[in-house]
Amino acid sequence: MEKEKNTASEINAKALSLISHKFKTPLSIITGYTEAMLAQVTKEKYSPFTAKALEEINQQGDQLSKLLDKLEAFNRVLTAQQNGFQKQEITLKPLIKECAAKAIEQEGDVFSVSPVGMENTKKGTFVEIDCPDHLSLHCNEEMLRLCIHELIANAIKFNNKLEKNIKVQGTNHGDCISISIRDYGTGIRPHDVDRIFETFYQVDDDFTGQINGWGLGLPMVQRIVELHNGSISVVSDRGLGSIFTVNFPIL
Ligand SMILES: Nc1ncnc2c1ncn2[C@@H]1O[C@H](COP(=O)(O)OP(=O)(O)OP(=O)(O)O)[C@@H](O)[C@H]1O
Ligand SMILES: [Mg+2]
Repeated sequence: MEKEKNTASEINAKALSLISHKFKTPLSIITGYTEAMLAQVTKEKYSPFTAKALEEINQQGDQLSKLLDKLEAFNRVLTAQQNGFQKQEITLKPLIKECAAKAIEQEGDVFSVSPVGMENTKKGTFVEIDCPDHLSLHCNEEMLRLCIHELIANAIKFNNKLEKNIKVQGTNHGDCISISIRDYGTGIRPHDVDRIFETFYQVDDDFTGQINGWGLGLPMVQRIVELHNGSISVVSDRGLGSIFTVNFPIL
């Protein structure tokens, strides 16, 4: 019998998929049971310690589930070429709106308590979308969603302002369509800009302070852009915010 031969990248892809699959069931038990127990909080009269512990376990479980979702998405993008992927004409504006809403829900802070003396400050995450209504792109819908979602999620995540203003612009340049995501958050130092597309790379310092995640979002975005024969560029500096622009050629 002929032995099945796997390339290193096929083995990696299988390992990634197996890891996320094996973790999913125990994690859904952890989050499911803690949620059910938290729903009983008034009836059961838990001690403050037990209630806090349940909440913490539930939140960490949720966080881990999101990390696994990202790992799975990354794997789908890595294997897209060999598995084949469909392209269709996608109208950009509604898709950007949906991605922004999802990113705000997942990453946006809800500032329910204003810091003392800042009660009248405008707070929250505001995404302005500047894109012609009928601008469309021939692409794979799931991948375009992932790409825009990851960029908006980063614009929210690496931003410690109370009022987070993000601008997403879709433009038809004749030979290509660009989508740019602008934020006024932490920004990235030049020597880090060179590294942020490396798999698992995260700028880890006091300034950004938030290292939730894998360092997989941007490598995934870059791969998606490459799969569509496009390009990505970054303009950023520490303290000034960032502009990430993806360009997709018009076929
Ligand atoms: N808009 C941004 N502003 C400031 N820093 C950013 C921005 N986008 C990315 N970075 C930096 O680049 C690093 C890599 O980004 P990437 O999206 O790949 O990883 P992540 O967001 O840390 O984790 P993941 O996307 O896997 O959840 C981030 O950790 C962050 O330091
Ligand atoms: Mg990210």
